[in-house]
Amino acid sequence: MRKIAVALTKGGVGKTTTAVNLAAGLALAGQRVLLIDVDTQGQAGRMLGCAPTIGLAELVAGTATPDQAIAPARDRLWLLGGGKSLAGLKMLITRKEFGAERTLSEALAPLDDQYDTVILDSAPGWDALTVNVLFYAREVLSPVSLEVMALQGLSDFTQSLASIQRYHPELQLRYVVPTFFDRRVKKSEEIFIQLQSYYAAQVCAPIRYNVRLSEAPGYGQTIYEYASGSIGAADYTALTERIKQDDGTQGNA
Ligand SMILES: Nc1ncnc2c1ncn2[C@@H]1O[C@H](COP(=O)(O)OP(=O)(O)O)[C@@H](O)[C@H]1O
Ligand SMILES: [Mg+2]
Repeated sequence: MRKIAVALTKGGVGKTTTAVNLAAGLALAGQRVLLIDVDTQGQAGRMLGCAPTIGLAELVAGTATPDQAIAPARDRLWLLGGGKSLAGLKMLITRKEFGAERTLSEALAPLDDQYDTVILDSAPGWDALTVNVLFYAREVLSPVSLEVMALQGLSDFTQSLASIQRYHPELQLRYVVPTFFDRRVKKSEEIFIQLQSYYAAQVCAPIRYNVRLSEAPGYGQTIYEYASGSIGAADYTALTERIKQDDGTQGNA
């Protein structure tokens, strides 16, 4: 079962958009996918038009079983919801005297091998929940918005990742996904080229700026449902293909 964390310290770079549309894309391609929302804003569920009242916080606290906490969202796609209750989970984690960073991994262990892929949408910033997500995941996908300082943000993030990899060596930054790509903007192209030179193995084809991607969540729809002919749908289909191709290789343990 693959465990992919969509993460970057910076907000507004397309993490949730990517987590939701990648999860939906893999499900459309035939995989069984669990999307876990690890953000107190609960955006991932909203983007799918789901508002489960129990989710990850209750599962970790032991007040709900996986069956109760995991909601069906689409064919072959399930959601373990986040939202405000995660604030309580964060408290629970920070109060632990030891083993705090593995709280999530322990709670999610019963789900191992029930899905082909687990995608985790993480919150911006760097806190106890993010650390828990990275101890659970084996692959990291970082969306990077093509703007000034993007490279700096990614390199700061990879240093933070390194501090976790010392204890969890299976974790690797596997995908760097350039987002908000706009060929008309010179710096967008320049930053893309820089990203390619520093992260050649990880860089995926960019996700272009597409207003349909920002409209779809308002309807609780994925990009494939809301605008299947859009460039946003085409770009996320291409990303899905790239990630699917790596099945059965190093990340799939
Ligand atoms: N490629 C894109 N083109 C246009 N708008 C986008 C694109 N990707 C994301 N958005 C919009 O940008 C905003 C931030 O994206 P989001 O996925 O919520 O970022 P994050 O989770 O990193 O904070 C949202 O309103 C989203 O709809
Ligand atoms: Mg988000």
